[in-house]
Amino acid sequence: MKKKAFLATLAAGAMVVSLAACSSGGSDGGEGAGDGGLVGVAMPTKSSERWINDGNAVKEQLEAEGFTVDLQYAEDDIPMQVSQIENMITKGAEALIVASIDGTTLTSVLQDAADADIPVIAYDRLIRDTENVNYYASFDNFKVGQQQAWSLLNGLGLTDLEGAPLADAPAGPFNIEIFAGSPDDNNATFFFDGAMDALQPLIDSGVLVVGSGQTDFEQVATLRWDGEEAQSRLENILTSTYSDGTVINGVLSPYDGISRGIISALEGAGYSVGDAWPAISGQDAELDSVKAIVAGEQYATIFKDTRQLASVAVDMTIALLNDEEPEVNNTTDYDNGVKVVDSYLLDSAIVVNENITEQLVDSGYWTQAEIDG
Ligand code: GAL
Repeated sequence: MKKKAFLATLAAGAMVVSLAACSSGGSDGGEGAGDGGLVGVAMPTKSSERWINDGNAVKEQLEAEGFTVDLQYAEDDIPMQVSQIENMITKGAEALIVASIDGTTLTSVLQDAADADIPVIAYDRLIRDTENVNYYASFDNFKVGQQQAWSLLNGLGLTDLEGAPLADAPAGPFNIEIFAGSPDDNNATFFFDGAMDALQPLIDSGVLVVGSGQTDFEQVATLRWDGEEAQSRLENILTSTYSDGTVINGVLSPYDGISRGIISALEGAGYSVGDAWPAISGQDAELDSVKAIVAGEQYATIFKDTRQLASVAVDMTIALLNDEEPEVNNTTDYDNGVKVVDSYLLDSAIVVNENITEQLVDSGYWTQAEIDG
């Protein structure tokens, strides 16, 4: 009822809003037959498939609720993202859904949003250093990091996919290398901390050996989650640490794009898929990486359903615009430096070759034909 009431009250202003949206020229949004308000959706980059899926899912779901959507991608260019959000405010956006590039760079533009009474939802990545972020929609990111480590340990034969030690686990030692995500993305430290929570005890006991000795976040971080940067870091490590014939048995990767860089570095150093090919983790269930799992190049990925995340962000938007409290399930863990941001965190799942059908095909995320293609 309340949502309908909200949409009805917007009807009078809809013409103004849609005229504003139509004048946006070059926007991905604006063509929806929305009778609701305009919602600005700021995504970081199209260079990663997952953000395209996220953007499409948010747009479709908002349009199905009668909103008009201004969906913008900033190609990992921080000033471009700031100016895109500024434009959304100027065009009269009723609400903003933002997946930030650098979570610390939006303080000024979000002050403008607050001055215009525009609520802001941080989408997947926490926006830091501002009080002007209303809610956060994401996954349990510490758990995602644990799952990345558990999948790596499973690939080495040490644990099951919940991290429980296997009875017949080999003694090791196993040589591993560690990669983390972008230091300006709040998620990267959550993933790293979750992963190290599972890996550190085995490093301490000598079951795992980090050949390069690089285990600090600053040493293993990958700016902008860039696969090529990860590739060259691993190439350097393979030359400096493994050129004496020592074999690398596993690589912790926090994201499928980084995993692809890791695979390229290994192939370049003469590794080939088979017994001596290392176990490599990932995240996002990107199609190329699902194919890499089928081919045995990547051991696992973490499936985070972008459709569900979009649905949480859309529900939050509707609640806020109706002056209702969005549903949250975490009010303690996501301190953005100014306040703890109330959050709704979704569950994620480990995908390995054996459960691709169950996790990704049965859920309709990818078709078997797409995976086979
Ligand atoms: C993170 C996100 C990951 C991955 C990464 C690189 O913020 O949580 O799922 O997509 O960015 O895009």
